[in-house]
Amino acid sequence: MAAIGKDIQRAVALLRAGELVGIPTETVYGLAANALDTQAVAKIFSVKDRPSFDPLIIHVPDAASMQQWVMAVPEKARLLAEKFWPGPLTLLLPRKSTIPDLVTSGLDTVGIRCPDHPLTHELLQAVTFPLAAPSANPFGYISPTSAAHVQTQLGQKIPYILDGGECRVGIESTIIGFEANRALVHRLGGLSLERLEAAIGAVEVRLIASANPVAPGQLHSHYAPRKKLILGDLDRLLREYGTSAAVLAFKTKREFVDESRQRVLAPTGSVLEAAQNLFAMLRELDQSDAPIILAEWVPEIDVGRAINDRLRRAGAH
Ligand code: TXA
Ligand code: MG
Repeated sequence: MAAIGKDIQRAVALLRAGELVGIPTETVYGLAANALDTQAVAKIFSVKDRPSFDPLIIHVPDAASMQQWVMAVPEKARLLAEKFWPGPLTLLLPRKSTIPDLVTSGLDTVGIRCPDHPLTHELLQAVTFPLAAPSANPFGYISPTSAAHVQTQLGQKIPYILDGGECRVGIESTIIGFEANRALVHRLGGLSLERLEAAIGAVEVRLIASANPVAPGQLHSHYAPRKKLILGDLDRLLREYGTSAAVLAFKTKREFVDESRQRVLAPTGSVLEAAQNLFAMLRELDQSDAPIILAEWVPEIDVGRAINDRLRRAGAH
């Protein structure tokens, strides 16, 4: 199993030696490697069982250091980085050739973000290279929001996990690209459309769900539990499937369903709270003895849109 701890120097030494380290971020845990070391990057694909056509994003300590890795920063990207970094926002920008092809799957853009977590910030400042890091889960499965989640699934394959506690946001970063002077959202995530639009005006949402997507996180089926997940009106679904099903409710507990297979995302009704709990609760229900998971939509506001996007993909089989 991987060692788990808060030892930055140990993480630095492993990364310099071309090893992988599980790292905490505010969104989800990442599986990090030196982005400039193609052999280390190749390990990410093999440990995750990730297809090589699915590009990785790189993590940097601050907005200033992004210049080293990208050719140009459009005005809107500059504004967004200034306002929301460190934070749950990934910018797709034209890469310099210093970033290996393997990282971007040969694309001429690179996804880049500055994560908002004190341990990982310290780590990024201590190394001289950016960290390539996808979410630290096997390809297609639910993303990890604690060191224990990473340990359970990838612990056999990596030496160390930096333990930064539970992820504060709980859902992956919002991915935004630029075409001419327009901003295109390719993945809904921890930074809401409302906040994006307040900063740069209208954005176009262009989520892609095809076999060869711009962002394979946009694959039709992704973020998925092993059990079948069905979404809709919970009370109607419970009548149809019976109370042996596991239940993921938004804010109201169903009294007639056993506690062991029921989770309530946000008793307060806050979509932020729901995002924090989403992936951990999906994992717990996936481990329950129920044959199936029933879930309901959350309000389509703020980060609720990203939650509904993940639920939709978790339910696509
Ligand atoms: O919050 C996050 O973004 C987390 C943490 C660890 O930073 N990372 C994450 O990485 O979610 P990953 O690999 O699980 O998802 C990144 C998504 C993938 O769906 C990938 O296809 C897309 O970003 N992506 C990366 N580079 C891209 C590029 N140049 N063009 C289009 N999509 C890209
Ligand atoms: Mg992922």
